[in-house]
Amino acid sequence: MSQHRPKIVAVDGPAGSGKSSICDAVSRRLGWTYINTGALYRGVGLLALGRGIDLNDSAGIAAMVDQIAPGLTWRGEDRTLWFEGRNLSLEMNSEQAGYAASKVAKQAAVRDCLLPVQRQLTLSAPIGALVDGRDIGTVVFPDADLKIFVTASLEERSRRRLNQLGSDADTQSIDDIKAGIAKRDERDQGRDTAPLKQADDAVVLDTSDLSMDESILALIRLLKDRGLVD
Ligand code: DC
Repeated sequence: MSQHRPKIVAVDGPAGSGKSSICDAVSRRLGWTYINTGALYRGVGLLALGRGIDLNDSAGIAAMVDQIAPGLTWRGEDRTLWFEGRNLSLEMNSEQAGYAASKVAKQAAVRDCLLPVQRQLTLSAPIGALVDGRDIGTVVFPDADLKIFVTASLEERSRRRLNQLGSDADTQSIDDIKAGIAKRDERDQGRDTAPLKQADDAVVLDTSDLSMDESILALIRLLKDRGLVD
């Protein structure tokens, strides 16, 4: 008997492209599982910071990730990240966690350890999984049923970030935010291991001029066109 395999949609793209919010909403509408792989990298970054490991110390990070990867888990049903019974979800969205994630994500040992975790989480989805990250279509699931590359202009991504910051935005100018995002893009695209890259067979979804509702409908349309949903 062949093993159950859920439908897999790889959704890659740069920070601030809207991919996480879109995947979150679409998976709720379809009853699919949402897997935010960035959360796992954020978890590794947070745990390294908590243990006082230098983020540039590849050997130290490699030893740590080897030990923690099996205990790190993303719970798709309530979008929470756990490590050994501790909920890391509140800390996971901080700037500090994002920074630490982008540092540890450059390291091959970290990526190797998180590969089986991401595959296992996805393959246990009952119906289908929207898997959001940077290398899902290129490395984690090169045989995904559909690959989408979500993007938006740097200006638009910076504007969204500024809005997200709310009252905290007073301390940061749009130029600071733009510079920060550009730097993050550079780190994600320029690293040697599994850089952010559009898969050859990915469909591009540019959300620069789309509202959230329009982006959600555009993604559902792509799934329908591929015959993945009715
Ligand atoms: O999507 P995010 O901002 O939560 O991702 C945090 C960091 O992790 C970001 O620098 C990119 C990295 N990442 C990655 O390298 N590969 C993934 N599949 C997901 C995230």
